[in-house]
Amino acid sequence: MAKNTLTVTDNRTGKQYEIPVADGTIKAIDLRQIRTSESDFGLMTYDPAFMNTASCRSAITYIDGERGILRYRGYPIEQLAERSNFLEVAYLLIYGELPAKAQYDAWAADITHHTMIHENIKKLMDGFHYNAHPMGMLVSTIGALSTFYTDARNVRDPESRRLQIHRLIAKVPTIAAFAFRHSVGHPYIYPDNSLGYAANFMSMLWKMVETRYEANPVLVRALDVLFILHADHEQNCSTNSMRAIGSSDADPYSAAAGAAAALWGPLHGGANEAVLRMLDEIGTKDRVPGFIRAVKEGHGKLMGFGHRVYKNYDPRARTIKRLAEEVFEVTGRNPKLDIALELERIALQDDYFVSRKLYPNVDFYSGLIYQAMKFPVDMFPVLFCIPRMSGWLAQWDEMLRDKDQKIARPRQIYTGNGERDYKGMEERGG
Ligand code: ACO
Repeated sequence: MAKNTLTVTDNRTGKQYEIPVADGTIKAIDLRQIRTSESDFGLMTYDPAFMNTASCRSAITYIDGERGILRYRGYPIEQLAERSNFLEVAYLLIYGELPAKAQYDAWAADITHHTMIHENIKKLMDGFHYNAHPMGMLVSTIGALSTFYTDARNVRDPESRRLQIHRLIAKVPTIAAFAFRHSVGHPYIYPDNSLGYAANFMSMLWKMVETRYEANPVLVRALDVLFILHADHEQNCSTNSMRAIGSSDADPYSAAAGAAAALWGPLHGGANEAVLRMLDEIGTKDRVPGFIRAVKEGHGKLMGFGHRVYKNYDPRARTIKRLAEEVFEVTGRNPKLDIALELERIALQDDYFVSRKLYPNVDFYSGLIYQAMKFPVDMFPVLFCIPRMSGWLAQWDEMLRDKDQKIARPRQIYTGNGERDYKGMEERGG
């Protein structure tokens, strides 16, 4: 009779252990009973980078990396990108269900009415150097919000959590836009509450002397779809940071600042910026084969390719590739698209990339769209951070409600010296 257990024989002692299996996993703590002696600490697993460790149970986002599937709360990403809008998706991520009309209206009104930031936050942003990276400004300012909303420390109070979630989703585009305006030396534009989420963000970015900024509706929709595609991606590096920081009961602004910092790295949300720099470096289509050869010889990576989870085409990349065509009809074709298409064509035929299951990820084409929409490259990770805030907050809230969770505190294998006696400086040699 099949049993949901794993029998382990410890060849060091000859002892056998029967360990329960649930949801295709064993509990690492169940290995602790496997000991060679009374004084032995017990067996642990060693898993740097969490290559094969589930750190939580989550009902938010489902990914099947082998089959290229991504779903939020069960809904396929392709359907959401086609039929939903970002604010509805954010609601879905946070509350678990698509909103009914009245719920949506209340949610949209609530987010809209939290878009303003305190004037002192504006002054704080004024203090950044003229050439400060907008992502650095965003990370710092998100963290600084904790000093304005001290009630956010009540993380065990669901009502307080709800309020902070609304504030963060609402204010992050305002801070992002102010960071951009600061970097180009333009006056800040206050939110226009009559506009939708993406359109309002575009107004705060680009409004000059006109009374009302009217963004092109195709570009508004494109940005909204990009926001949907980036809203959550289960336990990635930044989400793991959000959960880890939040697990100490830190306030959500501090945790979100840490998550945003993790997102900034070029191996994560900074990849779209790195893709554009790479395309610039390649310069022309005829230099693509030489660049691919260099990557295969170990000189750098093909940015925007490869993913820890997707070992098949990233479903977000497929939608973005289509979206790029719609955007280019309005903005004109980004000349770098030809280089990107050639890179993709050659890489997908090359055994190096095929055998390692390296396919374009979400960032391979998103930068081309952002650039065509006139976003400076520095703003790319910021554009990722805005929608991902909703995913981080959904994951943070889920973590705080999860009875299995405690403060995140991994173990280590100590590889340093054994005990030794302190020596005075004169005894230490050269
Ligand atoms: N170009 C060339 N070779 C690559 C690439 C790449 N982009 N990605 C992985 N490889 C190679 C590795 O060198 C390794 O080869 P080896 O087996 O000969 O040593 C093999 O493929 C496996 O790669 P790992 O680094 O083990 O894969 P891992 O899961 O740790 O890394 C990651 C995933 C970080 C995304 C990686 O593919 C990468 O650096 N890609 C480029 C950066 C990028 O586009 N990041 C965005 C990810 S999507 C997101 O965060 C939104």
